[in-house]
Amino acid sequence: MTATKGLEGIVATTSSISSIIDGVLTYRGINIDDLAAHATFEEVAYLLWHGKLPTASQLAELRSRLDEYAPIPAEIIEQIKLYPDGTNAMAALRSAVSALALYDEAAGDMSAEANLDKAIKLQAKLPTIVAAFARIREGKAPVAPKKGVSIAHNFLYMLTGEEPKEVAVKALDQALVLHADHELNASTFAARVTVATLSDIYSGVTSAIGALKGPLHGGANEAVMVMLEEIGSIDNVEAYITNKLNNKEKIMGFGHRVYKNGDPRAKHLQKMSRELGELTGNLELYEMSVKIEELVTGQKGLKPNVDFYSASVYTSLGIPRDLFTPIFAISRVSGWTAHILEQYSDNRLIRPRAEYVGPVNQRYVPIEQR
Ligand code: ACO
Repeated sequence: MTATKGLEGIVATTSSISSIIDGVLTYRGINIDDLAAHATFEEVAYLLWHGKLPTASQLAELRSRLDEYAPIPAEIIEQIKLYPDGTNAMAALRSAVSALALYDEAAGDMSAEANLDKAIKLQAKLPTIVAAFARIREGKAPVAPKKGVSIAHNFLYMLTGEEPKEVAVKALDQALVLHADHELNASTFAARVTVATLSDIYSGVTSAIGALKGPLHGGANEAVMVMLEEIGSIDNVEAYITNKLNNKEKIMGFGHRVYKNGDPRAKHLQKMSRELGELTGNLELYEMSVKIEELVTGQKGLKPNVDFYSASVYTSLGIPRDLFTPIFAISRVSGWTAHILEQYSDNRLIRPRAEYVGPVNQRYVPIEQR
């Protein structure tokens, strides 16, 4: 029995949800480039859950259920108000999602129909939780979700209390499409491990949020923005990056366990970053990012991942830095729940082995002799 560090290259399950083959990412067999160009996030969520794109009436039905489920219980709002000042946004989301289960009578109903319904509930409620948290911590009243608009539109509306610009809605919608699923990434694996014990879907999504929070996974998009702020201006990029690389420090937003020739999602976010920079008349973050990419790729051969250009995209949309990873969760909950449903449909407990490398043949030593 020998271990592979980080389970690199280990195939841990079969799945028909998303694939990464020869550097190409597909959701249910459809190339991510095609979906990024044409699909809305709601269509993608339906695709992930059901395995095929929705008809117009199926999409309308999904949208109306998302509308119905978007409000969150008043008790959750009251709980968020009790979170201490300075609460980490992902910790807040993890706690609130965990608490949601307490207010859902169907939380323990393990029928396939109930679990799909809970997937839609979670998808609908996560944006409301994140926006409510962001407002409450600023001393503002949460804005109730509105009906008849997309998740991207509603999120920006609930965050600011104002009607968002069409261009912002489109950019966020595309970012949500790009983040929706990614095969057996760390948070999805965490979700599958949790529900493979036949625990409930809320437990699975709570585990996933915890895994996404870390800076080696979803937390990297916030860490990229911290880096851009530390660098401050384009003139400082070269010295900053060279120094980090010389010190063998990681540059956030670069590298990937699976993609060695570049993340196919990054180019879409780069384009969006440039377009939003042009629209807002402020290309500084975009230009700094391009320069960082040139240096990191030139010196280390590492390419940007999905998180790198997300940072400048979300900043151009006026979104606070610590909400970047919660936005990732707003999108990825579609993939997490699709994987949870897939796990339930053909479940076996996930219980791998560990290679023991500790001492052997030890004896119990009475406490007075230690
Ligand atoms: N900056 C500098 N060097 C790097 C980076 C980086 N971002 N990523 C990898 N390397 C180097 C490592 O230092 C290591 O070098 P060495 O062999 O000389 O020791 C080598 O490349 C291999 O790196 P590992 O960390 O072993 O690669 P692994 O496959 O385990 O990690 C990971 C992949 C975690 C994504 C890594 O590239 C990383 O830490 N990147 C920065 C964080 C990040 O952007 N995470 C988001 C990933 S995408 C997502 O989850 C949504």
